[in-house]
Amino acid sequence: MLVRRASWSDVEEMCRIMVATEPYITLRYTWDMCCDTVESAVEEGWSLVAEEHGSIVGFILFRVFDGFPLGGYIRALAVAEKHRDRGVGSALMSKAEEKILEYRDNVFLLVSSFNKNALKFYLKRGYSIVGEIPDAIIKGHSEIIMRKTRSAEHKHGSNIDEQKPLKT
Ligand SMILES: CC(C)(COP(=O)(O)OP(=O)(O)OC[C@H]1O[C@@H](n2cnc3c(N)ncnc32)[C@H](O)[C@@H]1OP(=O)(O)O)[C@@H](O)C(=O)NCCC(=O)NCCS
Repeated sequence: MLVRRASWSDVEEMCRIMVATEPYITLRYTWDMCCDTVESAVEEGWSLVAEEHGSIVGFILFRVFDGFPLGGYIRALAVAEKHRDRGVGSALMSKAEEKILEYRDNVFLLVSSFNKNALKFYLKRGYSIVGEIPDAIIKGHSEIIMRKTRSAEHKHGSNIDEQKPLKT
């Protein structure tokens, strides 16, 4: 698997992954909304894709500056369903965190309260819950604010070279 910067030719595959998965389905992200999100991140330059055998299997969109007060911000992360649980999401997170923590002391992200799998994934990666925005995007569901600090990073290690090899 190769993690590399996203380019314009990746946009359609990235939108296809995003529109087909939770939490974006429940959050009622349409094709156009997914593409707007992906395109703006590709334009800003802070977006990575994971590629396997010439196909995009996952992506991460983030901001190093101006994303969130006090730190960088993970805007979106998604791995195509059949490629999950093989370290793709961890590899994408590690690269994005590495880039953010080069300049900032914190990484922030929002996770939907119904997205228990992602919440668990982030807790395991050293994030802690620092707040909650009720009825944030749709009524009845909150967005949980999570933070990882530079010191937590040192404890858990984010160097991509430390990742387990991919299961094949
Ligand atoms: C959350 C998400 C991005 C995680 O991606 P992923 O590629 O499945 O994550 P990983 O494979 O890196 O980690 C998941 C599990 O695989 C394990 N794993 C990590 N590297 C591994 C490897 N090399 N081999 C085998 N297993 C591995 C992890 O320990 C983890 O196990 P756990 O669930 O017991 O903690 C993915 O589930 C997803 O796209 N979900 C839908 C979109 C979403 O919710 N996005 C977040 C929005 S806030």
